[in-house]
Amino acid sequence: MQQSPNYGKSPTRRDFLVSTGALAAGLTLASAPVAQGAAEKLAVSGGTAAVTATHDEALKWPRYGKTEEKAVVDLLYKPSYDPLVTLEKEWAEFIGVPHTKAHFNGTSALAAMFFALNLPPGSEIMVPSYTFFATIAPMRFFGLVPVFVDINPRTLNFDLEDAKKRITKNTKAVLPVHWIGLPADMDHICDWAKEQGLIVLEDCAHAHGAKLKDKRMGAWGRMSIFSYQMSKPLPAIEGGMGLYQNEEDFGRACALGDYQLKGVDKSNPYTKYAGSGLGMKFRMHPMAAALASCQLKGLDERNAAGAAQVRKLNDRLTQLPGLYEQSSGRTDITRLYYSWNMLFLDEAKAGMSRAKVVEALKAEGVHADAVHYQPQHELPLYAEAEWWHHKPEIPELPGTKQANDTCLALPYFTGDAPELIEQYAAAFEKVWAHRGELA
Ligand SMILES: Cc1ncc(COP(=O)(O)O)c(C=O)c1O
Repeated sequence: MQQSPNYGKSPTRRDFLVSTGALAAGLTLASAPVAQGAAEKLAVSGGTAAVTATHDEALKWPRYGKTEEKAVVDLLYKPSYDPLVTLEKEWAEFIGVPHTKAHFNGTSALAAMFFALNLPPGSEIMVPSYTFFATIAPMRFFGLVPVFVDINPRTLNFDLEDAKKRITKNTKAVLPVHWIGLPADMDHICDWAKEQGLIVLEDCAHAHGAKLKDKRMGAWGRMSIFSYQMSKPLPAIEGGMGLYQNEEDFGRACALGDYQLKGVDKSNPYTKYAGSGLGMKFRMHPMAAALASCQLKGLDERNAAGAAQVRKLNDRLTQLPGLYEQSSGRTDITRLYYSWNMLFLDEAKAGMSRAKVVEALKAEGVHADAVHYQPQHELPLYAEAEWWHHKPEIPELPGTKQANDTCLALPYFTGDAPELIEQYAAAFEKVWAHRGELA
C-alpha cells in the first residue's frame, strides 16, 4: 500500500521545503500545495466556502439494493434458518478458518468467545482501552479481568511495547482490535504471545476482509469475532460472527448460546448439552444473515475502491505540514476504512491549534471533527471492585490520550465522491495557506 510521506516520521524542516516548496508559515508559492487557496479569503473570515458538493450520497450507508430486498422478501414468504448455515460457511471460507458461529451481534459473539476460553477466574486479558465497550465489558461475566493496554497514537492499535510492560502472572490472553480497518501487527503480537504462552484473540469488528501478509484478519487469532451492525464494513443491520480455529473452543462457544449445538461435530464433548445448551440463545436473525451474504459479494472490491479514494485525498493532505494519517507504515497489509478517515495534527509543525483548524475547516464546509473517543478505562464500571473478580488496574495511557488530543477526523466516504475529494483537498490547502493568519 502506498504510504503517505508524513506517516510515522516527523518531517524535518528540510523535508518540508523539498516536499511542498513552501518556505514558512504564511508564505506562498504558486505551485506548492500549501499555497493553493492563498488568494481566497477563508470562509471563517467571510470568504466563500470551498466545499459546495453535497455529502448525502457520499455518506450513505448501508447501501442495499434489489438483491438485498429480494433476499429479505423471499425469507418473509418462506421463513427459514438456512441463511445462517449459508453465511457461516461463506464466512469461514472467506476468512480462512475452520469454524464459525453466527450470533445476533458482535457483543454476543465476544461473550461466547470469552466463555469458550475456559480460563480460571481472575485470568487477565490484555486489551486496548481505546475500543467499544463490547471488546471488554462482557469479560466480567466469566471472571476475566481486562489489563488495559495503550495504543500507538498514530495507528490507534494495540501497542505491543506497552503490553510487554503490563504483563502479569495472571495474564492469559491478548485481544487486539483492528481499529477502523487498519490491521494490528498480528505477526509480532503472535510471536510475542507464543513466547509468553498467551492465547491470541482478535476483535475484527472493523476489519471485514483486511489482510496482513495475505492472511485475513480474523484468521490470526485462536478465536476472533466480527460485527455486522449497520455501520460496519459488512452491514446486516445487526449481527455478529464468532470464528474458531479449534473444535473444542467452537463446541464450548456454541454450548453457551445455541441449545442445539448446530454444526458441532458429534465427537465434541459439548454436544452432550444439545437440547439444553448452557442457558443462552445467541442466534443471529436469518434476515440479517441473508443481508450479510448479499453484502459479502463484492466486499473486497468495495473496500478497495474506498481505500483508493482515501489515498487520493490523503496523498494531498499529508503533504501539508503537521498533518498525518492513521497508518502503520507497513506495505504488507491490505487495509480498509470504516466510519472515519482519521488524521492527526501536530500543532507545532502546522503552526495552528487544532481548534482553529477545525473551526476553519468547518466554515469551509468540511465535516472535520476533533473526535474524543471514550477510552474504557476511565469509565465507572472498571473502577468498582464489585463487578470484577479483582479490580482492573486503571493505568495512565499516554498514547490513548495523544490520539484523542491530536486527531482530526474526517468522514469516510462510502461512495464515489470525486468532487468532494477535490473540494476537501482544496479546503485544507486553503486553510494551510492561511496558517499565518490562523496561528
Ligand atoms: C471494536 C468493536 N468491537 C465490538 C463491537 C460490537 O459489535 P456489535 O455492535 O455488533 O455488538 C463493536 C461495535 O461497534 C466495535 O466497534
